[in-house]
Amino acid sequence: MDKIIFATSNQGKMDEIKMIMEGFPMEIISMKEAGIYALIDENGKTFEENAIIKAKAVMELTGCITLADDSGLEIDYLDKEPGVYSARYLGEDTPYSIKNKTLIDRLNGVEGSDRSARFVCAIAAALPNGEVLTTRGTIEGIIGYEEKGKFGFGYDPILYVPEYGMTTGEMLPEDKNKISHRGIALRMMRDKLFDYNSK
Ligand code: IMP
Repeated sequence: MDKIIFATSNQGKMDEIKMIMEGFPMEIISMKEAGIYALIDENGKTFEENAIIKAKAVMELTGCITLADDSGLEIDYLDKEPGVYSARYLGEDTPYSIKNKTLIDRLNGVEGSDRSARFVCAIAAALPNGEVLTTRGTIEGIIGYEEKGKFGFGYDPILYVPEYGMTTGEMLPEDKNKISHRGIALRMMRDKLFDYNSK
């Protein structure tokens, strides 16, 4: 059976994609399971560019269909910062309590829908024939006035989702997974790959 590689070393993402791709007629394996250890420079300007860079690099090493993702938080008032620099914002090792407080402070005086923001996830599939497919999923919200919630990670305590009346950090993980930007993008990619596979 042909294999699809997911270019990540994050086990949580692997578990999520394996669950979403259940029933797909190709096995999904991680870079580790494929025996690939590549350090890829994510120097793209958009989530899609970064996902494509990673997916192409691993596809070129293996010849297999390769998926990769890139995600982050976009705040409209800050010209979409921290964006593709979400993990690196204020330094990779800076605690998120500081990153979150800094972003809240930078929105001082900004009210209501002007605080609009979203989690974005782009997924790219690099195919051996050189074709590239991309999908994008989002969770739309506004930046809260203080951190709230003990679930999740990263910027979860500051993205308030009006539809649910809470931040993603207050959502039970199983509830957040149902609406997650990564889940949306992955399911869209699964459907695109099904179409591609049945051509
Ligand atoms: P990566 O795509 O795994 O490199 O994630 C990029 C960064 O975006 C993470 O380190 C977080 O700072 C942020 N991020 C992405 N998705 C989420 C989320 O669901 N909750 C909180 N922060 C997130």
